[in-house]
Amino acid sequence: MSDTAKIIVDDKTYELPLVRGTENEVAIDISKLRAQTGIITIDPGFKNTGSTQSAITFLNGEKGELRYRGYPIEQLAENSDFLEVAYLLLNGELPNHEQKQQFETDVTRHTLIPEDMKQFYEAFPSHAHAMGILSSMVSSLSTFYPDSQIPNRAKEDVQLTITRLIAKLPTLAALAYKSNMNLPYMYPDNSLNYVENFLYMMFAVPSEKYQMDPVIVDAMNKLLILHADHEQNCSTSTVRVVGSSQASLYSSISAGVSALWGPLHGGANQAVIEMLETIIADGGDMDKWINKAKDKNDPFRLMGFGHRVYKNFDPRAKIIKKACDDVLNKLGINDKALEIATHLEEVALKDDYFVERGLYPNVDFYSGIIYRAIGIPTDMFTALFALGRLPGWIAQWNEMVDNKEPIGRPRQVYVGATKRDYVPIDQR
Ligand code: SDX
Repeated sequence: MSDTAKIIVDDKTYELPLVRGTENEVAIDISKLRAQTGIITIDPGFKNTGSTQSAITFLNGEKGELRYRGYPIEQLAENSDFLEVAYLLLNGELPNHEQKQQFETDVTRHTLIPEDMKQFYEAFPSHAHAMGILSSMVSSLSTFYPDSQIPNRAKEDVQLTITRLIAKLPTLAALAYKSNMNLPYMYPDNSLNYVENFLYMMFAVPSEKYQMDPVIVDAMNKLLILHADHEQNCSTSTVRVVGSSQASLYSSISAGVSALWGPLHGGANQAVIEMLETIIADGGDMDKWINKAKDKNDPFRLMGFGHRVYKNFDPRAKIIKKACDDVLNKLGINDKALEIATHLEEVALKDDYFVERGLYPNVDFYSGIIYRAIGIPTDMFTALFALGRLPGWIAQWNEMVDNKEPIGRPRQVYVGATKRDYVPIDQR
């Protein structure tokens, strides 16, 4: 196997080193290309460009494989729980009993947020979107812990920020829900585990004993595990680039929350349910909506379909679809949206337009149906995605810092006006 690539520009040949990963992925290392040749590359959307070498998550888009630190997602979803997967992503290995117990204890002890922050919630308009609240609140956390802004802090100080973020995000998210519903806040109950505590803060009310449903706890654990990391996606790349300026972890995660909000990314889970409700309200004519999705002149896209990397099936969608069936059966819920979604998938996957482009259901296609069955309101769906993705964002930020990667600053090819002199206004 060769260890260089040759490019020829204007009859000159340049040799560039090749990088090969542990899964035999090959990349041309262009880190010195401009210095050697004066030439840069260009790749809108970075569809063919790697930003880093990472040891956290591997995915194979052609085979529909996803592994966290080498462990297949199917095995983690079946056998693990979210905090254990968070530990794995952050530390590179599954915890032993003592390590897991310590991590759970550390997180449990930091679930409270500074009391002053509750006033921030009162300042938002009623029904403010949870993602707008969450990105603001995560950034605001840094003002209560100003030392977190100091660049190059000791590892144990960074670890405290990591623990605080993982512990407090569920509290911040549940508060967003309660303040929007104008319902009384519930303080975390630290006798509960991570997922139970979140469900308690979301749905318990002071006057009643909250009945924890193991079906819902299991489904929530699975969903958070399946969302925990996904290599260099839009929001993770955002977290890395913001962190590369030595901005704090709070600032980097707040930026990640904002990037995730977009309907082409994490906001798709909300957009899918809104799309299914529109199709149901419109009479459920599948062919009409499939044709709209295929029509280049129609802005409508089949939300929850397609993926930058998976050109076969998204392994997470398969697990979530099965969990969807299980949860709705166990809860005795018959959701028309699931029926429409399943039918839509069947119709689309027989249609050349989708098959030729490798467009299959992605992680967002069925997740909203489970969230809805659990009682999560639609504009909280992406906040749940953020809750799941948090350990992945942090692990990726940590890797960027540990590898001392340079500040992210892409180049460009200028295509604007060439040099010209100023013209006084009365001569224009
Ligand atoms: C997530 O990157 C990640 O890992 C993200 C994520 C994660 O875990 O972090 O997996 C989470 O963001 C999942 C994706 C959620 N988004 C959606 O479901 C929105 C709908 N999907 C699309 O907008 C689209 O598929 C993207 C954004 C997901 C991917 O876009 P790409 O890779 O830029 O592909 P593209 O837009 O260039 O599409 C290629 C072709 C185009 O047609 P042609 O120009 O070749 O004729 O496929 C078409 C597109 O028009 N196409 C769709 C479509 N998605 C792509 N046509 C109709 N409906 C769709 N959903």
